Amino acid sequence: MESIHAIKGTIDTLPGEIERWHAIEMTVRKWTGLFGYSEIRTPVFEDTRLFERSIGEDSDIVGKEMYTFTDMGGRRITLRPEGTASVVRAFIEHSLDQRGLPQSLWYMGPMFRQERPQKGRQRQFHQFGVEVIGGKSELLDVEVMELFDRIACDLGITGREYAVNYLGGAESRERYRTILVEFLDAIESALCPDCQRRRRTNPLRVLDCKVPGCREAVHGSGNLPKIVEYLSRDDLASYGRIKDILGSNGIAFREDPFLVRGLDYYTGIVFEMHLKGLGAQSAVMGGGRYDALVGELGGPDLPAVGFACGMERLILAMENLGSASAGNGVDVFVVSSPEFTNAADAAYALAREVRLAGFSAAFDSQGKSVKAQMRAASRSGAKYVLFPCGTTDAFEVKDMAASDQKTMNMDAFLAMLKEKS
Ligand code: HAM
Repeated sequence: MESIHAIKGTIDTLPGEIERWHAIEMTVRKWTGLFGYSEIRTPVFEDTRLFERSIGEDSDIVGKEMYTFTDMGGRRITLRPEGTASVVRAFIEHSLDQRGLPQSLWYMGPMFRQERPQKGRQRQFHQFGVEVIGGKSELLDVEVMELFDRIACDLGITGREYAVNYLGGAESRERYRTILVEFLDAIESALCPDCQRRRRTNPLRVLDCKVPGCREAVHGSGNLPKIVEYLSRDDLASYGRIKDILGSNGIAFREDPFLVRGLDYYTGIVFEMHLKGLGAQSAVMGGGRYDALVGELGGPDLPAVGFACGMERLILAMENLGSASAGNGVDVFVVSSPEFTNAADAAYALAREVRLAGFSAAFDSQGKSVKAQMRAASRSGAKYVLFPCGTTDAFEVKDMAASDQKTMNMDAFLAMLKEKS
């Protein structure tokens, strides 16, 4: 019979690989807790209009990459391509502003984009991210970056540097838009068909075009106007303050005057972190301020800022850097000695006592030879192997690192495990 495979662009995470995921998940929980953020979980599918309205009709995500279908009730449904829109929808739907502002929220889970799969780019991938809704201070812009930085640092990611740019509010963007359209008109024939259209509908998107010839025409001339030169006084002051706070907190950044990001909702600082060694898909995280989105989605007029990190890319970076060991294995493996009757039951009973005392334990239930069980014990990474001694309460304990062996009872053995843990 023909075998069935995982869908292109999706990944199975196997034992031996899952430990790095756990390391990330634990570190995210630790630092979001220390920063006082609360977790929010939203559905993986939403009304398609949510993403059209927030990410923007002219973006690659909405235009080309969404998994959209019509359900049996005739509704247009989309598998979420990112988390921000859903968090904002949930914030509005449940009036979270009534719980006090700002609301500092974090999330983690699968996202879906129909992109061409390659290293670091899947169709189902995972993000963790944060959204701080209802706070305007530049301290919050830096706080979300620092929160990510703490997580990445704990996970052994070295060489962290953030690319930053400032897109500005409506007034700044309108001024820049006029100048940018003039520039794009002059090179119109060199633009790809999508960007010829976007030039009128959403010219900032042209800066983010991935089509090589088009990108070269826009970025290669050296004349592309910079957003920062058209910022209002207030926006410029805000950008300056963010850079000062980043500097005084030791967060390394470099200004990228053409960083616009692939989503339409940004209105202030935008930032990304790229890491070497990840090939073409080097962006590990990205985010920024989006002060108009909550209002645009029908909520109160509240400012917001956030980021999301691609977990598969973070794992690739951890692997490259050799950080966060892959799996420590179990604490204890209990051998079921074939020479005794009911050996597996005795092994299970011992493993159970170890487990209930708070240590991990595996045992053999298959009646394998002692030699085969010892191979399984080493594969499991067990620090101690126990050999039950028939009818007595005592058992032999082999310390796998020290290679010595002694007779102990359960109380003494657990006391030793506790002392060494
Ligand atoms: P984004 O830049 O579209 O931003 O995605 C954030 C991160 O998700 C990227 O830097 C990348 O690491 C990862 N990512 C995106 N697409 C893929 C893919 N196909 N395969 C693997 N990883 C991928 C957002 O999603 C915004 N919601 C961030 C944000 C939050 N802005 C404000 N708040």
